[in-house]
Amino acid sequence: NAQGGHELWLRNKTSVPVSVVCAETSPTLSIAVQELKDGWHGKANASVTLSIVNDDAIKPDGFRISAASIRATTHNGILYGVYELLRRQQTGQSITDERINPSYKARILNHWDNLNGTIEHGFGGPSIFWHRDNSLAVSDKDRLIWKEYARANASIGINGTVINNVNANPLVLTKDYLERVKAIAGVLRPYGVKTYLSINWAAPKTIGKISTTDPLADSVINWWKAKMKEIYTVIPDLGGFVVKANSEGQPGPQDYGRSHADGANLLADAVKPFGGIIMWRAFVYQPNEKDRAKQAYNEFMPLDGKFRDNVIIQVKNGPVDFQPREPFSPLFGAMKQTPVMPEFQITQEYLGQSIHLVYLSTMWEELLQSDTYQAGKGSTVARVTDGSVYPQKISAIAGVANIGLDTNWCGHDFAQANWYAFGRLAWNNRLKSEQIADEWIRLTFSPETNTTAWNTGFLAPVKQMMMDSREACVNYMMPLGLHHQFSANDHYGPGAWWAPARMRSDWTPPYYHKAEPNGVGFDRTTKGTNAVSQYHEPLASLFNNPNTCPENLLLWFHHVSWDFKMKSGRTLWQEMCYKYDKGVQQVRGFQKTWDKVESYVDSTRFRSVQRKLRSQLTNAILWKDGILQYFQTFHHQPIPFDIERPV
Ligand code: GCU
Repeated sequence: NAQGGHELWLRNKTSVPVSVVCAETSPTLSIAVQELKDGWHGKANASVTLSIVNDDAIKPDGFRISAASIRATTHNGILYGVYELLRRQQTGQSITDERINPSYKARILNHWDNLNGTIEHGFGGPSIFWHRDNSLAVSDKDRLIWKEYARANASIGINGTVINNVNANPLVLTKDYLERVKAIAGVLRPYGVKTYLSINWAAPKTIGKISTTDPLADSVINWWKAKMKEIYTVIPDLGGFVVKANSEGQPGPQDYGRSHADGANLLADAVKPFGGIIMWRAFVYQPNEKDRAKQAYNEFMPLDGKFRDNVIIQVKNGPVDFQPREPFSPLFGAMKQTPVMPEFQITQEYLGQSIHLVYLSTMWEELLQSDTYQAGKGSTVARVTDGSVYPQKISAIAGVANIGLDTNWCGHDFAQANWYAFGRLAWNNRLKSEQIADEWIRLTFSPETNTTAWNTGFLAPVKQMMMDSREACVNYMMPLGLHHQFSANDHYGPGAWWAPARMRSDWTPPYYHKAEPNGVGFDRTTKGTNAVSQYHEPLASLFNNPNTCPENLLLWFHHVSWDFKMKSGRTLWQEMCYKYDKGVQQVRGFQKTWDKVESYVDSTRFRSVQRKLRSQLTNAILWKDGILQYFQTFHHQPIPFDIERPV
């Protein structure tokens, strides 16, 4: 490929002849036809018909497939149908006559790419969109990479991408940058991938000559109207914008005593004539808040129903920040008159970056299948966000991308699986992680070897390793509801003890674990910060009681004694020791699994993953020893004899 490296899950070229009948033409349909010819794994000399039909049951990106035909109402629908057909052929799934529609209308990657080519929490090399030398010239290599990127996205149903960081540089909205955005959009378009931008709220001041950014000021309203007109003249089908406002020091409407709704609606009105949407983020918290986990709900709930119909609220899966495990954000399902979209983090900021093998699909599945009870039993996060429960004009889902210029795109070969899984879940939010892992392994590691030996010797153990990997990470990093125990700034290693006096307390781990001689954990019960009340019954009561609260969230919701009795019969302290130890032993197990599959993998990928697993183990041990020994300083109890001891 353009990066001289991996072709991701798209490495299954064949020369089996197939004839494709397609009455219409377009750049998108040409791609569809070519993909069928290059990747056909069906009967030799079969004939496949691609046709545009009228069928109200097929949504814009949806399709109807059978072994020999793909019908859709749009060209993009045909393309998605082609990829579905090929995937089923290549992974040995059955193909019956089926109508298939995506769960969400907008399935979007968020790139935290800066205009100088660096990426905030990017672990797969520099940006594919912006150059390190700030040059805006578009090269052939740029175009080739964007094309391969677009193809990879289309193959898993991703139909949008935000190409600059949410901590946005306003310059992206100026003429020279817009020309580059136009070039990018042009390459992505035939693959059905729409381009979006991140907005910096203060843009009217910094790049305009306006003295205020008050959303109710005429000067500001007019500036945005003119700016949107300019942007849409250059890129008429730009999807819209994501906005991080009044969050972590970013400017926003609250600087003028206005609300998030005032801000979002101003932008929504300005993009309305062009069909754009505004994804307004709810990732907000203030330094003096006693419980950061509560703030988004407190700020946004009073605004439910006050947003224009082209605004959607973008909410991180958990109420704090992409931690290895959090309960779902209580905003899901609670906002009933304003659409809400989940934001996942594909880049592993808090889950081992590009060193640890962690398959995130199980975490996202856990979130999507969490029952919010907001509209009765069965109001899962999936259903309250995809339009199944509440009528909504827009539905969307976002994932913070893990993509860069590294030859394998993502830094870790197994991190590609997270990009893949995000796309698949965005397309179908009921899919099971095990199926997704199965598909990805087959597509990524030569299905030519799809024999009984390969299935039992490679597929099964590797799949099991992926399925166990997230829980292993939770175990050795922060089990039992612990959260945000990371070292400062880089969010990689353990830092439970890190709390310099000069630092905002909510940016230090002790704010979250609250360990003291008698106990540990964050009291969010009715006697504590009462965050439990943001959840619908029966969850509020369930979480409020330490004996009914799921143990994997115990220290999220409760401050309990070190001797608290766990279901296993152990004390909390003992249980914690066993969890950390279990995480370490799981990584040792992954190493053994991987060593055994050597004969099935090319040596480059084999060695790279083997090397990374070794570092993952060293780091897992560091997590276990560091955190356990730190907590011991509070209560001085011994570490149980039958677990691996700190050295
Ligand atoms: C995290 C992350 C930041 C990011 C922020 C966000 O706090 O560390 O780098 O900007 O989330 O999602 O806005």
